[in-house]
Amino acid sequence: MIGRLNHVAIAVNDLAAATATYRDTLGAEVSPPQAEPDHGVTVVFVNLPNTKIELLEPLGDNSPIAKFLEKNPNGGIHHVCYEVDDIIAARDRMRAAGARVLGDGEPRIGAHGKPVLFLHPKDFCGTLTELEQA
Ligand code: CO
Repeated sequence: MIGRLNHVAIAVNDLAAATATYRDTLGAEVSPPQAEPDHGVTVVFVNLPNTKIELLEPLGDNSPIAKFLEKNPNGGIHHVCYEVDDIIAARDRMRAAGARVLGDGEPRIGAHGKPVLFLHPKDFCGTLTELEQA
């Protein structure tokens, strides 16, 4: 069912330093920082030929990545995102399989303006997993 790897999200405490690492050391094309107050993060998109990396820095007091960074002060892979054709069909399939869909299970509009859902890491090999309707 899942399609392309849409992105890998990496949480960081210092977005400028992380951006410099991807741009200058790894030689990647990076976007300007984009504040996403609704999601509690500032994002830099690293555009690779076959996928994207999203560098996430906490924004505001209740950032959903703050706890993760307390446990991972050097930063780390926060989640992976796979594309699906139909987010509602994907959600229903996850539930039927016994997997936990986070929140109320209603898709939210993600950072790319498309509907997304998150799946519980304990059901997916210890990895927070995002599904995005491409
Ligand atoms: Co994401």
